[in-house]
Amino acid sequence: MLYAIFAIDRNNLFGNNGKLPWHYNEDLQYFKAKTLGQKIIMGEETFKSVLRNGKPLPNRTSVIATLTDYTFKGVEVTHDIFGYLKQSKNEDIYIIGGKSIIELTYKLCDILYITYIDADHEGDTYLNLDLSNFEMVEENISGVLHFRKYRRIN
Ligand SMILES: NC(=O)c1ccc[n+]([C@@H]2O[C@H](COP(=O)([O-])OP(=O)(O)OC[C@H]3O[C@@H](n4cnc5c(N)ncnc54)[C@H](OP(=O)(O)O)[C@@H]3O)[C@@H](O)[C@H]2O)c1
Repeated sequence: MLYAIFAIDRNNLFGNNGKLPWHYNEDLQYFKAKTLGQKIIMGEETFKSVLRNGKPLPNRTSVIATLTDYTFKGVEVTHDIFGYLKQSKNEDIYIIGGKSIIELTYKLCDILYITYIDADHEGDTYLNLDLSNFEMVEENISGVLHFRKYRRIN
């Protein structure tokens, strides 16, 4: 199964200067619970943002999608995310960002875990997705955080 997991706010804000525009501990815990032990794919920019904390996300297998010659010791790199997903279609894979990689791949995903944040934030990167091929099958609300699960219809 192919999954994507990410958060957007009520203005479709998605990033700020290469980082998340917000800090919600509950959303970080949710992300962790969903991805622990899993294979996660992210774009080079998102990987570099993760590395600001010193190392790749622990207890997950990271794969970096990039068109450059970027490498990181011990981490798999793909220059062709579509080919990679095709050859891995019997595996569970979680796409975790950023904007370019989500835009390229979300329509291929079986499940989208979107944390919709019903609040305003400062940022510079927006994500406008067409979810007409998805239906929301679950929503759990905690304050401004709406933890939504979407399933692809066709
Ligand atoms: N809100 C959230 O949940 C969330 C989650 C993660 C990240 N973010 C935010 O997203 C932003 C970063 O997004 P971004 O779009 O700048 O970067 P990104 O998606 O992390 O990385 C994009 C990388 O993918 C490469 N790429 C493009 N097409 C490809 C292909 N077909 N196969 C393999 N690689 C390919 C790009 O190469 P080229 O540059 O050569 O095109 C680039 O190196 C940050 O602000 C971050 O905080 C938000």
